[in-house]
Amino acid sequence: MIITYADIDGFRNLNGISFAPDPKYNIIVGPNAQGKTNLLEAMWILSGCKSFRGSKEKDYIRLDGNRMESKIKLLDSVREQKISFEMTKSASNPKSIHLNGVKQKGTRALFDVFKCIAFIPDDVEIIKGSPEKRRNFIDMAASQLNPVFVMHLNKNNAIMNQRNALLKGIMQGNTDKSILEIWDRQASKEGAVISYMRYEYIQKFNGICGRLYRTISGGTEELELEYRSNFYKNEDFEIPCY
Ligand SMILES: Nc1ncnc2c1ncn2[C@@H]1O[C@H](COP(=O)(O)OP(=O)(O)O)[C@@H](O)[C@H]1O
Ligand SMILES: [Mg+2]
Repeated sequence: MIITYADIDGFRNLNGISFAPDPKYNIIVGPNAQGKTNLLEAMWILSGCKSFRGSKEKDYIRLDGNRMESKIKLLDSVREQKISFEMTKSASNPKSIHLNGVKQKGTRALFDVFKCIAFIPDDVEIIKGSPEKRRNFIDMAASQLNPVFVMHLNKNNAIMNQRNALLKGIMQGNTDKSILEIWDRQASKEGAVISYMRYEYIQKFNGICGRLYRTISGGTEELELEYRSNFYKNEDFEIPCY
């Protein structure tokens, strides 16, 4: 998959940028704070993922501007596709996403179309940092491969929000405790599915990483990745549960 053309306007400090990247390698050089990372971020958001800088969508718009747009054409194994992301400061309908000219409700459809990996200095935290960083990485990468995963993650978030609201109600003494069990059951079901999907992703990832690492090390070293859950043993994952 290659980006054949990109148009970026009003995204942070970038204005009127149009370029056709090289299909293989592109090296972007320049002094600090010129917008090199902004350029990558402007294209990254078309993958349907949240900013890799952890910034809010409203910050995409140029500080003294009212709208931003980022558009790419990309060539996958079959055809050319077009993605555009426009946003204005107007409160009523700020975001507008199009895929091949068709307006999309959200970013979900983009996951499947534009697959993108960012590797930034903070990513060493995936190895060094807390399990949460690893979970977030797996969830993002696996979502791009399998949109069903996104559905389960969203469902799980919704259940957790409901459950937390209920817990608050129980603590304040104005909600019946017995309802909690219904949410617990749903949360554990979705939790199991998500754990399984993470396990499945790491299984696939392990095969690919092992192969690549053998090439890099000239066959002298092995790399093995394994998913370790606090709740499940690997045997628990033998039967797919979604
Ligand atoms: N919403 C915004 N509006 C205008 N400028 C912005 C906005 N967000 C970030 N910037 C500017 O973007 C620049 C940083 O760009 P960045 O891509 O991080 O630079 P680098 O070339 O070092 O990677 C800074 O000058 C910063 O002021
Ligand atoms: Mg930078």
